[in-house]
This record gives sequence, structure tokens and C-alpha cells, in this order.
Amino acid sequence: MNKILVTGAAGFIGYHVSKLLVESGYEVVGIDNMNSYYSVSLKEARLTQLDQLSPSLQGSFRFERLDIVNLKKINRLFEQEQFDIVIHLAAQAGVRYSLQQPEAYVTTNVNGFFNILDVSRRHNIKHLYYASSSSVYGNQTKVPYSENDRVDHPISMYAATKKANELMAHTYSHLYGLNTTGLRFFTVYGPWGRPDMAPMLFLNALLSDKPIQVFNNGDLQRDFTYVGDIAAAILKLLEKDNEALCPNYRLFNIGNAQPIILEEFIQLMEQIAGKTFIRQNKPMQPGDVYRTHADVSALEEHIGTIGHTPLKKGLRHFVAWFHAYYQE
Ligand SMILES: NC(=O)c1ccc[n+]([C@@H]2O[C@H](COP(=O)([O-])OP(=O)(O)OC[C@H]3O[C@@H](n4cnc5c(N)ncnc54)[C@H](O)[C@@H]3O)[C@@H](O)[C@H]2O)c1
Repeated sequence: MNKILVTGAAGFIGYHVSKLLVESGYEVVGIDNMNSYYSVSLKEARLTQLDQLSPSLQGSFRFERLDIVNLKKINRLFEQEQFDIVIHLAAQAGVRYSLQQPEAYVTTNVNGFFNILDVSRRHNIKHLYYASSSSVYGNQTKVPYSENDRVDHPISMYAATKKANELMAHTYSHLYGLNTTGLRFFTVYGPWGRPDMAPMLFLNALLSDKPIQVFNNGDLQRDFTYVGDIAAAILKLLEKDNEALCPNYRLFNIGNAQPIILEEFIQLMEQIAGKTFIRQNKPMQPGDVYRTHADVSALEEHIGTIGHTPLKKGLRHFVAWFHAYYQE
């Protein structure tokens, strides 16, 4: 059985990945610095869920509050635990915040990423999987976005730091033979989601009769991807890699491959919530891209078909979780 480190385990995707791994029999150690970029109590509530996973499960979960920027402590953790696999999801997320606080992105996403990369090499980790992002494609007009497209024009510091991660990983794979896989996630949503992203921002506004900000008159496209599909694809990939030799440097898109126009997304949320939005039209925001659309054929060629939960179904799960969580 593999022992896995999940960084950013109290985060949205980290929580879902950790839960699925434990349910699938893995021993998981989760770390997170529990920063206050968004509600710390939401992060704590996710950890409580992980702690309460049934003891009859074959796997297990342990958590340590740790900052990936602290190399000494990260090193000690790796020495003590002897991980087989690292799934690195800790990051300063969010495109818009990167316009206000670019240094936070360099600190965690560049320096912190380097620490994870370097300790992974020094401790002979079998495979380092790390979160990249669809934002590396910038404002590319050719769709769908393929891993073979050039990604040399990021338009936010968030995107630039994710692209930097891919370059650093390439160098370590090349120089030291470290197996690395970058996962370019496309607009992830679902239960336990992030309060700074559209589904949660919109639902909060809808329920409190506040206006939503609609950028570029709703003329934006996003490839909304259900978080359960992301976690399941990561597990499938890990298990596939365990049984077969894989190239030591790879990048994969993980997305739903069915983009939706923001205007239609708004209508869908209104339908599900049974209420109409108050809208404030706003111009296009600096740093925001016009569209995202994943080509997932490379990933599906390798691991078989991945989940493509329809947006309507995934949003229903999200809205049901939201009511249960916030009205408890
Ligand atoms: N959610 C999306 O739509 C999306 C899309 C593309 C890429 N990603 C990437 O996927 C990963 C997970 O994203 P998420 O949506 O779960 O975000 P999230 O913010 O919910 O999770 C990230 C976690 O990392 C932790 N963290 C931040 N800095 C840290 C540090 N220095 N040390 C230790 N922990 C730290 C945070 O406390 C948080 O719990 C991130 O790398 C993000 O950039 C997410």
C-alpha cells in the first residue's frame, strides 16, 4: 500500500482527494497552513469530515498544520513519514487576488512549490502529482485547449506561477529523473467549494438578495468541472501509474470538456435555486480569460473515460450541500 502526502488537504480539492484516497484504502497524511484567504472555519469543517471517516475503512488520514514555505519542517516530515507519493495541491489560488497580492503567489506557488519539488527528489518519491491550471492557456483563441498548445502568454501572476511550476517540474524530471505529472484543472466546483468562486459567490448573493457582478455582460465561457470527477480521475491515474511505467514528465488537462457561457450558467442557477438574480453588469476584468475548454483526450487515452458530470447535476449537489452546511 502506498503512503501519500496530500498538501492543501484542508482545501476544496485536497479535501475531496484525501477522502477518496482514504475510502480507497490508502494511508494519507494531509498538510495545510490553514491561512485565512477564505473562511478558516470551512477548512476546519472539511478536516473534521476527514477525521470522522469511518474507522472501518482500510485507509487512514492524519493531519498536520504545516506551511510548505517552511523547508526545515517539510524536510522533517518527509524524513519521518517516508512517503511513496506526493499530491501537491497547496497553493495561493484565485486569479483576481493575484492582481492585489502578487507576492503571496510567488511565496507559496514558487518558493513553496520548489520546496516540495526538492524534498520529493531528495526523498526518492515515486511520483509527484501537482496542481497546475487551465489559466496557463491565457487568452488562447484556439479551442479546445490541448497540452500540445504553447502556453507562453499567461495574463495573471496566478497563471505565471502555475506555468513556472510546470517548468521547474520539467527541469527536475530531466535532471534528477523525478516522476512529475502536472494536472491542469478547469474551473472546479461542487460541495465544500471555495467561497471566492462563482457558484458560491452567486448563490450567497441570490439568497441574501444582493446583486451579482456579471463580467463582460455574461459573455465568458467556462469549462465547469465537478470536483468528484477530478478526485476520481486522480485516483485512476495514480493506480494506472502504479502498474505501468510512465514518462517521467507529463502534463494532463482535467476538465469537463463541455464549456458553458456565463449567461447560461446564471440561468441554470436561477432554475435550480428557484429565484432570479439581481445583476450588475461589469466590464471584463484584468487577469480574467475569455474562455476555458479542455481537451482531455490525452488523459482519457491513458486511463480510460473520466467522469463528465453534467453541470445541472453537479450544481444540484452543490446547492444541496450549501443549504445543509450553512443552515445547520
Ligand atoms: N478550484 C479550481 O477551480 C482550480 C482550478 C485550477 C487549479 N486549481 C489548483 O488546485 C489546487 C487546489 O485548489 P483549491 O480550489 O482546492 O484551492 P483551496 O484554496 O481551497 O486549497 C488550497 C489549500 O492550500 C492551503 N495553502 C495555501 N498556502 C499554503 C502554504 N504556504 N502551506 C500550506 N498550505 C497552504 C490553503 O490553506 C488551502 O486550504 C491549487 O493548487 C489551485 O491553484 C484549482
